[in-house]
Amino acid sequence: LIKFAARTDRIETIESKQFLEFRRLSREAKDCVSLLGIDPKIMTPRVVREAAKRAMDSGENRNYTDTKGNPELRSALAEKLREENGIEADPDSEIVVTNGSIAAIYATLQALVDAGDEVIMPNPTYALKTHVNFAGGTPIEILLREERGFRVDPEEIAKMVTPRTKLIALVSPHNPTGSVLQKEDLEKVAEIAVQHDLLVLSDEVYEKLMFDGNKHFSIASFPGMEDRTITINGFSKGYAMEGWRLGYFTADNRLMAKIGPIAYYIMICANTISQKAALAVLTEPEVQKEQQHILKEYEKRRRLLVEGLNKINGIRCGWPAGSYYLFFNAKSFGTPVVNLATYLLKEGKVLVGPGTSFGSGGEGYLRACLAESEENIKEGLVRMKEALERL
Ligand SMILES: Cc1ncc(COP(=O)(O)O)c(C=O)c1O
Repeated sequence: LIKFAARTDRIETIESKQFLEFRRLSREAKDCVSLLGIDPKIMTPRVVREAAKRAMDSGENRNYTDTKGNPELRSALAEKLREENGIEADPDSEIVVTNGSIAAIYATLQALVDAGDEVIMPNPTYALKTHVNFAGGTPIEILLREERGFRVDPEEIAKMVTPRTKLIALVSPHNPTGSVLQKEDLEKVAEIAVQHDLLVLSDEVYEKLMFDGNKHFSIASFPGMEDRTITINGFSKGYAMEGWRLGYFTADNRLMAKIGPIAYYIMICANTISQKAALAVLTEPEVQKEQQHILKEYEKRRRLLVEGLNKINGIRCGWPAGSYYLFFNAKSFGTPVVNLATYLLKEGKVLVGPGTSFGSGGEGYLRACLAESEENIKEGLVRMKEALERL
């Protein structure tokens, strides 16, 4: 029967056999402390939970909403995009609400990338390569270097452009490295996109998780970019709402006319209860206060983790500028990180992610997540130090 599963062969997976084994072991692991972000212990803001309960009790979950999303939510999103991101989007034809931002990424790449089209993207990076492969496109990867704070280098992007290049994909703040693209980086990428008439997919799902006064910029707001940028965003990360599965995206109406129908066929519409909850995120001032609280919590955990990791012999960890990940250097152990992560799981009873699960450029790095309880972080650090010093 396996022959009927041929379609999945199109997903040229970046997951090696060793990684699949690591994943199997991590699912079965007992007595392990996780630094993967499995058990965040930070609640979704109260006002958001209450809005969802009201939506349920009022029967508003009974029907599909408009395919593009609840009109009130789309209006609130248009206002948010104008005020916070400098993007003018018509709520009727240029915004679609999706089940998580991942559905927006899928629909965008399926709609815009054809066989033979090249997509320039960072390596390592979360999920994009698989999505490009699945659309039949060719991923052209740019290695992220620790010396540049893992920010993709626009000069390397420029060198990779060919007549087959269709799209440049950016992720800022970035998963797994925590890098944040600076205004000058984005200006340079915008120049390249305009010069070569390219599309840009800009994944901004971590925009609310910025540290050290770093500022988020949306490339769609740069000159010449509004018509050629697909901006992807969502509620999962900034508001502790991962499981609520709510994302959205915005693009020029001519692009949206191509992408929107695919979004329709994969989801009909986004979850109606979560859409009501998302409206509360955008309209209830209390939520923004809670968002600041969430950020402070992550900041506290970032300090704990960075300082703790740097006390372990052989580990080097910089300060991530955004997102809720730490990507730390474990090259000194001279072992493929998937083996190192497996050793830490089996012998140290602590779970961290191998960088190579995000692409070959993640070799030598491990990933930890700030969306873990302080308790787990403290215990995880003790276990990691002990296990690595035994090596
Ligand atoms: C960079 C990036 N984009 C998109 C997503 C998908 O998030 P969601 O579908 O919850 O909005 C993730 C999830 O980890 C991510 O790291």
